[in-house]
Amino acid sequence: MHPFKGSVHVPALEQLIARVGRERVPLVMLTITNNSGGGQPVSIENMRAASAVCRKHGIPLYFDACRFAENAYFRLREEGYESKTPKQIAQEIFRLGDGCTMSAKKDGLANIGGFLCTNDDAIAQQEKNLLILTEGYPTYGGLAGRDLEAIAVGVEEVLEEDYLCYRIVSTAYLGKHISDEGVPIVQPPGGHAVYLDARAFLPHIPAEQFPGVALAAELYLEGGIRSVEIGSLMFGAAAKMDLVRLAIPRRVYTQSHIDYVIEVILNVWKRREQIRGLRLTYEAPFLRHFTARLELMP
Ligand SMILES: Cc1ncc(COP(=O)(O)O)c(C=O)c1O
Repeated sequence: MHPFKGSVHVPALEQLIARVGRERVPLVMLTITNNSGGGQPVSIENMRAASAVCRKHGIPLYFDACRFAENAYFRLREEGYESKTPKQIAQEIFRLGDGCTMSAKKDGLANIGGFLCTNDDAIAQQEKNLLILTEGYPTYGGLAGRDLEAIAVGVEEVLEEDYLCYRIVSTAYLGKHISDEGVPIVQPPGGHAVYLDARAFLPHIPAEQFPGVALAAELYLEGGIRSVEIGSLMFGAAAKMDLVRLAIPRRVYTQSHIDYVIEVILNVWKRREQIRGLRLTYEAPFLRHFTARLELMP
């Protein structure tokens, strides 16, 4: 079990820059934690190495930082970082980059909103000018003042050790109880979600019949559990895996809610051989997974 499956493949990054040329790489974006690959964290050492490559080539390094605090908490898996606080780790992470995007619905602990950050004052000025044109003045912008205030508090609170511990432990609890019964999941469980491996869960359904969507639909029918496919519907033939993400909303569920989710998944697991594949009846020309319609295979 690799503890940092979200890490970037640094030699591949070097090779890509060499192949396409530095001028064709406007920035490098590193998502912490890696949402489409299992909610897996990136190690600090890996970020340091990626940052060194970017700085060598003069390429800005940006973080998709929406789960920065969960990523910081996973320093417990990394030698030499265990005794630092999540806040110290977060500060160390952001020093390695040039900016970030943030969907504050995640580790901003807010109901809505997000932000864009840069360490470059000239770019910040340009962005603020553009913001006035497109959304509004930076102090209110596209978000109401109360939402900006909630984010300001959220990014501090999210770094509290107790909060992060409860969150990561409840995700791991869900992962452990279903995998102990044989349910295939991405191991180890990520920070915000457990990812079911739908190809292994439903080996009789080929990727073209969307095993991830079939499984997500069954979880909803069985117990009203809403999940999302990350696989062949989302990425088409390029999908290497068919996963079902069980993202856990923060500060919502108690242990008994998680126990209910476990029960529902195990009920579906027991009758997995009867689950059928699906075929598309409508697909939009882009981002089809948001609006697709499917029906059961005959
Ligand atoms: C890693 C990551 N980045 C960005 C987003 C987009 O967030 P929003 O819908 O707030 O724009 C998401 C949403 O799930 C995400 O998981």
